[in-house]
Amino acid sequence: MQYSEKVMEHFMNPRNVGVIENPDGYGKVGNPACGDIMEIFLKVDNDVITDAKFRTFGCASAIASSSISTELVKGKSIRDALQLTNKKVVEELGGLPAVKMHCSVLAEEAIKLAIENYLSKKQPQS
Ligand code: FES
Repeated sequence: MQYSEKVMEHFMNPRNVGVIENPDGYGKVGNPACGDIMEIFLKVDNDVITDAKFRTFGCASAIASSSISTELVKGKSIRDALQLTNKKVVEELGGLPAVKMHCSVLAEEAIKLAIENYLSKKQPQS
């Protein structure tokens, strides 16, 4: 399988690995087909993502996708971060092999879930 240099680089030196205690947004997704699991933690201030971390048990593409996704949403407003798509993740990684596309989808889903979690906490309780 041919990986781009960017995928290799993010796999070898993943950015933002770790956990945020008491995150403002949290999302956990898994892919039943491959068994991989991805968790995203967000710190949000005034609707801007000030920090993002991930913990991923998965393949090289899943780790590279998590790494680049956290980089892409850090410093972005919630509204902009919601625009993140797996296509963008793949583009930023310089491509992914066809059988590894679902790894980028996992990253998009995890980020969106973490943002939805943040937004749901913001809703006034009734
Ligand atoms: S093989 Fe399943 S996330 Fe990569």
